[in-house]
Order: sequence, then structure tokens, then C-alpha cells
Amino acid sequence: MTDESVVQLDNLKQRAMVCTACDLSEKRTNVVFGEGNPRSPLVLVGEGPGDQEDKTGRPFVGRAGQLLDKALLEAGLSRNHVYICNTVKCRACDWREGKPYNRPPTDEETITCRQWLVPQLDLIKPRVILCIGAPSAKNLIRRNFQITKERGKYQPCEFAKTAIATLHPAYILRQQSATNDGGFSLLVQDIQRAWAAAQKLLEQENLSQELQSTLEF
Ligand code: URA
Ligand code: SF4
Repeated sequence: MTDESVVQLDNLKQRAMVCTACDLSEKRTNVVFGEGNPRSPLVLVGEGPGDQEDKTGRPFVGRAGQLLDKALLEAGLSRNHVYICNTVKCRACDWREGKPYNRPPTDEETITCRQWLVPQLDLIKPRVILCIGAPSAKNLIRRNFQITKERGKYQPCEFAKTAIATLHPAYILRQQSATNDGGFSLLVQDIQRAWAAAQKLLEQENLSQELQSTLEF
């Protein structure tokens, strides 16, 4: 990512922060644009902000986010190694009797919010995208993507050299019991695979650049 693109990404964020393009803008506290290292070869894309994310304006800071941090750590990474964002930038929830209930974003909301996600990925140009959960994979890899069958495998993707989808930490939290890790080890494994692919792609680029420079002399 060039210095110019970093400036453009910040510019895009400033515009997204006041977006009212879909109905989710009405009840949100903060737009959760994304954060981390925009120069990273790996971008993680989740589903959408929850309660804690809406309150703080930061992606993956609630219970699911804490599990994601733990998985990153086990994979030998930290949040500073990657860039993290979501498919939709505002919290999707229904209000009943004055209380919010989280729900998945609708197709319409997801499509509307691509006006931020697509230029965001176009500017960052990640080598690899790790889709966190099925909605992200359906948005960025293929509409009919099947998370249980196809997770952990390299997939073609319009916005990166390759994409991998993994289990959502919120799903893992629901599956976990005393005798079952709920798929946590798979999440760690998928992060490792995504990072390994990103490193390999960087290596190949460096090699071809080196070759290019020897040919120029
Ligand atoms: N779940 C997501 O998909 N994204 C977040 O930012 C938090 C929870
Ligand atoms: Fe805009 Fe996306 Fe928020 Fe909808 S979810 S208001 S499109 S930023």
C-alpha cells in the first residue's frame, strides 16, 4: 500500500463515519470502519459490529473479539500484524421494548455497505483475505459458499490473490463445552494458513522484483 493510499483510506473512513445510506444508521452509536495495519498482507473481514463494537467504534472488541485475539496470539500474531474490518460497518439489531437484539445484516444492508468495503479493500490491496464467518465468505468469495465444507481452503477472490474462510468466534463460543473446543483449533489453523499464504506471496513478489532489477542492468 502506498503512502497516497493510506491518505485515501483515511479520507474514505472520514466519509463512512457519517454514512446514512441504509437504515442501520438510525440506531447506531458509532460506525465501525476498521483498524489495524493497512499495509499488512492479510485483512480479516467479519460480519458486523455488535454491542461493544457499536459503543467503542472498534471491530472485534467484545467476547467474540477477545476469542479472536486469543486465536491470533496462538497463531503467533497480534492485531498489529493485520487489518480488521467488517462486511457492514454499523450494528444490525432489532429493538423490542426498548432493548436491542442482534440480528444478521440483511442482503440489502450488506449490498449497500459494499460502497465502503469495496473501496476499502481496493485501497489496502491485501494479498490474502480471511473471511470470518459465512456472511463474510458469501459476500467476498461466493454467494453459495458453504462454510462447513469449504472453510480453511484457498479460494479465488476478486479483492485479493486468495481468500480463506474460517469459523466465526461467536459461533465457536456457542459450540464450546468442557469437552469440546467448539472449533477454536480450526480458527487458529485457518489464521496460520492465511498468514503463511500472505508471507509466501510477499516472498514471490520480492523475488520477481529482484529479478526485474537484475534484468534492468
Ligand atoms: N462480530 C463480527 O463479525 N464483527 C465484529 O466486529 C464483532 C463481532
Ligand atoms: Fe452506511 Fe454501511 Fe452504516 Fe449502512 S451499515 S449506514 S451503508 S456505513
